[in-house]
Amino acid sequence: MSNISTRVAVTGANGFVGKNLRNFLYKNKINVLGVSRKNFRKHASEVKIISTNLLEPKLQTKLKNYDALVHLIGIGRQSPKSTFEEINLNLTKNVIKACKNAGIKKIIFISGLGVSKNNQSDYFVSKYRAEREIMNSGLDYTIFRASYIIGKTDYLTKALSKQMKKGIIVIPGSGKYRLQPIFVLDVAKIILEAVLEKKFSKKILDLAGPQKIRFEDFVKLFAKNTSVKIQKISLESAYDEAKRNPRSVYGLESLNILVGDYTSDGKQLKKLSNVKLTTVAEFLQSSRLS
Ligand SMILES: NC(=O)c1ccc[n+]([C@@H]2O[C@H](COP(=O)([O-])OP(=O)(O)OC[C@H]3O[C@@H](n4cnc5c(N)ncnc54)[C@H](OP(=O)(O)O)[C@@H]3O)[C@@H](O)[C@H]2O)c1
Repeated sequence: MSNISTRVAVTGANGFVGKNLRNFLYKNKINVLGVSRKNFRKHASEVKIISTNLLEPKLQTKLKNYDALVHLIGIGRQSPKSTFEEINLNLTKNVIKACKNAGIKKIIFISGLGVSKNNQSDYFVSKYRAEREIMNSGLDYTIFRASYIIGKTDYLTKALSKQMKKGIIVIPGSGKYRLQPIFVLDVAKIILEAVLEKKFSKKILDLAGPQKIRFEDFVKLFAKNTSVKIQKISLESAYDEAKRNPRSVYGLESLNILVGDYTSDGKQLKKLSNVKLTTVAEFLQSSRLS
């Protein structure tokens, strides 16, 4: 498969990773079809599909002749209208059907770091079951279990920026639990490698950045050169707030993910990928986040 003739479909095209990935693919002259529920700004060479039903015939026809589909629909916080099962699992089943109907041979899926058959919290269960659907589909796949993907408009950056405007960033619990954030442009590069290179075939890979960093240290770096206060609150209070207030800064599953201390040795990714991963300090600076 050569770069220039490669055709990639993207669901969740207007989300954080979707937008960044499409920009990167456009710059690299890859043919892209983006699917989103709402209208979005497309690049000149892109095909845009607005659809709320991944199985509608119009979409199936357009998807024909694409080499791979990057499935970026997913939620990290559920509501009565949008449950993890409905979005993370059932829409993945639809995407598998859509690929089969259209003859797309490969799915690339972003799962979560920490997903395993033993992790019983709802978000992780939905991602684990979605992974199994893909693995048992008969299609080729690369599944990435991602730590926090960071750019200008990711969930964590938005949560911290919002608090920063109010002058205080809250840290649930000790803040000693670690994360391993990865820069969104690095993620886009790695996804393209997974589209183009056979060695990524039928693999589940942790997608984590080059450094393990305690949450409190990440927040300090994030708020560097500002007068923002950092305040620790007990984990109990954070969970109480998450249960009580659907708009709390940290939702229930966000807390589970955050305090879960999910990290990776990154060995498998290093073996397969040639992307030089950006450090936390570098990407905070380049995104003008710090
Ligand atoms: N960002 C991270 O740190 C991170 C970490 C681990 C895993 N992931 C996974 O990576 C994928 C992309 O994440 P992201 O950060 O780009 O998330 P995002 O900005 O929230 O985008 C997710 C996309 O999911 C689609 N979506 C949400 N609810 C939907 C619904 N009810 N019906 C149909 N589509 C719906 C939306 O697509 P449209 O609005 O375009 O229709 C949205 O753009 C997700 O599967 C996420 O779970 C992300």
